[in-house]
Amino acid sequence: MDINNFEEYLKEIEQTTLDSKAVLEEFRLKYLGKKGIIPALFSKMKEVPGELKKDFGARVNEIKVKAEEKIEAVKEQIEALELKKQSADLDLSLEGAPFSAGSLHPLTIIRNRMVDIFSKLGFVVAEDIEIVDDWHNFSALNMPEDHPARDMQDTFFIRKDPDIVLRTHTSSVQVRVMQNQKPPIRTISPGRVYRKDSDATHAPNFHQIEGLFIDKDVSFADLKQTLFYFVQEMFGKDIEVRFRPSYFPFTEPSAEMDIKWKKINHETGKEEASWMEILGCGMVDPAVLENCGINPQEYSGFAFGIGVERITMVKYKIPDIRLFYENDLRFLKQFAGEI
Ligand code: PHE
Repeated sequence: MDINNFEEYLKEIEQTTLDSKAVLEEFRLKYLGKKGIIPALFSKMKEVPGELKKDFGARVNEIKVKAEEKIEAVKEQIEALELKKQSADLDLSLEGAPFSAGSLHPLTIIRNRMVDIFSKLGFVVAEDIEIVDDWHNFSALNMPEDHPARDMQDTFFIRKDPDIVLRTHTSSVQVRVMQNQKPPIRTISPGRVYRKDSDATHAPNFHQIEGLFIDKDVSFADLKQTLFYFVQEMFGKDIEVRFRPSYFPFTEPSAEMDIKWKKINHETGKEEASWMEILGCGMVDPAVLENCGINPQEYSGFAFGIGVERITMVKYKIPDIRLFYENDLRFLKQFAGEI
């Protein structure tokens, strides 16, 4: 092999047009393949006289590097071209594979809004278990065994003697909060509760947010103002409310609050204004404070319990509580996108 051929190889490497993968592969085999030019040149080394060996080796190597670089560069070019061609063929107007996005349940939407409103007044969330003993659900709250007030919250028993029940209200959480925290206390307790009740406005399993405020010199005016603030934030400044005196064993005095809402009468198709009870409330009975280790001479407080379902029904004009639990997508989809 004439050493002058080296220049020709270099020229050829530089000038060959490699415009497809097949041509490129042919070129690779010609130079770098087992039987290609470069291995052949290397095997000639032994015939080269000693003083020229070094120069010969360096030149063969130069050809090898040039060939490799060319192959690499052309490969990249070809691949880039292919990609461009592919994306030109892509039809972006084709419909994608559809997927259905989930959305929040209306009760979750309203629960979150309620928590936000009370958070602005400094209430913090306190949560606890749903299966509780008799004392936390009833006795600590001034409802000893055989007290007739227990009938208002007829419940599900998990076990008798000692009695373990599904909580009928999240007041059981408040008992635990009072036992474990020192006033000032300002908590709200959202959660699932259970009662033996079922009709268009009562479900055996529903949701509450109960609130508890305990400090020095808390008055009924504080309670009313807190609840006014809540309904106005939730329904707007024009909402009409009424307080009715009521009875709860754990609060004295006690009241219930109703709000006026427009309900659609499904027989006439017309909207009808009516009152809906949305919450019970009152000043925490001193005996309850004492049961939970808080000195009633020093502290007073108020409590309230709001039905999340009731608020949601009024907010979205939903006539029947049972719609919440049927998981009918035609119903649930109407709330998609709300947060
Ligand atoms: N716990 C009561 C209920 O579930 C509501 C309530 C809470 C009433 C706090 C007064 C004070 O019916």
